[in-house]
Amino acid sequence: MKKDQLILGIETSCDETAAAVIKNGTEILSNVVASQIESHKRFGGVVPEIASRHHVEQITIVLEEALLQAGVTYDDLDAIAVTEGPGLVGALLIGVNAAKAVAFAHGIPLVGTHHIAGHIYANRLVQEIQYPALSLVVSGGHTELVLLTEPGSFKVIGETRDDAAGEAYDKVARTLGLPYPGGPHIDRLAQEGTPSLKLPRAWLEEGSYDFSFSGLKSAVINTLHNAEQRGEKIEPQDLAASFQASVIEVLVTKAVKAAKEFDVKQVLLAGGVAANKGLREALTDAFAGLSMDLIIPPLHLCTDNAAMIGAAGSIMFEKGKRSGLDLNGNPGLDIEVF
Ligand code: KG4
Ligand code: ZN
Repeated sequence: MKKDQLILGIETSCDETAAAVIKNGTEILSNVVASQIESHKRFGGVVPEIASRHHVEQITIVLEEALLQAGVTYDDLDAIAVTEGPGLVGALLIGVNAAKAVAFAHGIPLVGTHHIAGHIYANRLVQEIQYPALSLVVSGGHTELVLLTEPGSFKVIGETRDDAAGEAYDKVARTLGLPYPGGPHIDRLAQEGTPSLKLPRAWLEEGSYDFSFSGLKSAVINTLHNAEQRGEKIEPQDLAASFQASVIEVLVTKAVKAAKEFDVKQVLLAGGVAANKGLREALTDAFAGLSMDLIIPPLHLCTDNAAMIGAAGSIMFEKGKRSGLDLNGNPGLDIEVF
């Protein structure tokens, strides 16, 4: 009988310090996340220096807790998968150095892993992936359509030319005076409002799978300011609903078009904005009559976590990827070649 594969995932690319133990790439034995959101809230966004300090304080505790909850020791592990990028360099370095120290001390193979590959392979913790698959990646830093023709191979067929979807959510939320991170607040408001305001949809050139959200973000800000100057009141829930309708219409339309063109078996939703209720519902409706399966991870696997890094790291480990003790944090890591 084949021995179970145990991978320790480590994630510190932004404002969550996380560690998880994953069995055979698909089963979560533990998934520990220490969030720093409360510390960054009062600044209206993530402060890199504060993020790094919190990671330093938390990483050892989080690692020990992940092993304890999984009921394993370092000697049971087959590999350590750590997010090497993209992300905040000071934040990445804490996870990378912790992973290197443990790998060196216990003689465990090290696998540098891509953060977005992690978001995509969070879907593997829900259902085994069938190829070709298309992933709609919508996070705070990325908005992309990624084609996966085989395990661990990623081709970006479209990406944002300016703001990421999550970034647009956070900026619009800030304009409405909502706390950071704003995405969940806009989502909640949008459920209460009607999309009655006319806002643009950036389709870009015919056939392009790229996205653009900065024009929409400016349109929201202008709509609000113009109304203020005229002494008119705009209901924030209607503005949230109108903004969300524009984002979702473009994301869903392009995802459906790409899924058909590349004749994929599965569509994988990924990234923090995948927690958006409106987006989840719209995608579910759009793919209901189509041949491909839509997979939507549960909320706790959509936002940053280390289980997803373990799931992606397991694929890269099986493909033979090994990182040396010279592994470094790489804020600009490319998903097509990492
Ligand atoms: O993937 P993630 O946890 O971190 C990055 O790798 O960027 O994504 C965080 C982003 C934030 O911009 C946050 O506002 C957004 O995900 N987000 C949401 C929702 N929940 C989180 N955006 C819209 N609706 C939500 N329900
Ligand atoms: Zn993320």
